[in-house]
Amino acid sequence: MLLQNPGEYISGEEISKRLSISRTAVWKQINKLREAGYEFDAVSRRGYRLIQKPARMDPISLMSAMNSSTFGKQLKILEVTTSTQEEVRRLAEEGAPEGTLVIAEEQTGGRGRLGRKFFSPPGKGIWMSLLLRPDRPLSCAPQLTLLFAVAVCRAIKAATGVESGIKWPNDLLVQGRKISGILLESVAEDDRIRYCIAGIGINANMTIEDYPEELRSIVTSLQLESGKPVNRPAVIGAVMSELEQLYRLYLEEGFTPIAHLWEALSVTINKVVTVHTSRGLVSGYAVGIDGNGALILEKAGERFTVFSGDVQLGG
Ligand code: BTN
Repeated sequence: MLLQNPGEYISGEEISKRLSISRTAVWKQINKLREAGYEFDAVSRRGYRLIQKPARMDPISLMSAMNSSTFGKQLKILEVTTSTQEEVRRLAEEGAPEGTLVIAEEQTGGRGRLGRKFFSPPGKGIWMSLLLRPDRPLSCAPQLTLLFAVAVCRAIKAATGVESGIKWPNDLLVQGRKISGILLESVAEDDRIRYCIAGIGINANMTIEDYPEELRSIVTSLQLESGKPVNRPAVIGAVMSELEQLYRLYLEEGFTPIAHLWEALSVTINKVVTVHTSRGLVSGYAVGIDGNGALILEKAGERFTVFSGDVQLGG
């Protein structure tokens, strides 16, 4: 009630009537909310007024920010976990439905692509994993990776105005600095996907001092780019809506429309790039992506395909 009437006093009596609880119970609940980080003004004969919400993400703000129909509707919020990827894997094995979302305020073992660590400190970022159950061959998984990059890029723009570009396959950059990373892990049986866990990390409200020295020159955050703290639940809600729409488009029309959207947002295409692959360095002019989302490079008139690796702009 207090969230829905910002700036207004609501009397203890009215709250107790609407919730059919005693005035003492209202007072107790207000104190519980105070402990959880809410701040209230309490004035005799006027009632309570909400002054500030906690910086933490709470289920109510998150659920009210979700406009999607299934993605994010099954929601688990954790204060701290090793990795939300592990949590979703456990839920997936227990039969959780597609669209199940796990969000953590902090990850102690956040994972990135290519076996790297992903810095996920408490209270300021968006660290979340979503469960998908596409009925597709395992070879389609890289397409979903690109779909996620497009969805997060569009959602960030819609929710905060921050424009980012996609570095192949799915890093989001603002002027060369990373603002978001995506990790797609798939579990398959007989070459068909059983489920995918899509991990999304978005640097939301970090300042540069929040990062260790070695990361400061290569990262940025939504707060740093927009000049003000962003509403994390609103960003998460926007990501879920974009993802749901693009995933539906993908299931109905295949990868082609997603590939076009990806290419339009890419900062890799039409550039000379060097890719660090497991077999060493390859460089060439990036001409586009193929039907599986692999990167096509051209060098000395010959074309070749890169399936996985770390792209650096320049030859
Ligand atoms: C990358 O940039 O290499 C991918 C980073 C993916 C990070 C997200 S944060 C939520 C989820 N849990 C993890 O451990 N990793 C992903």
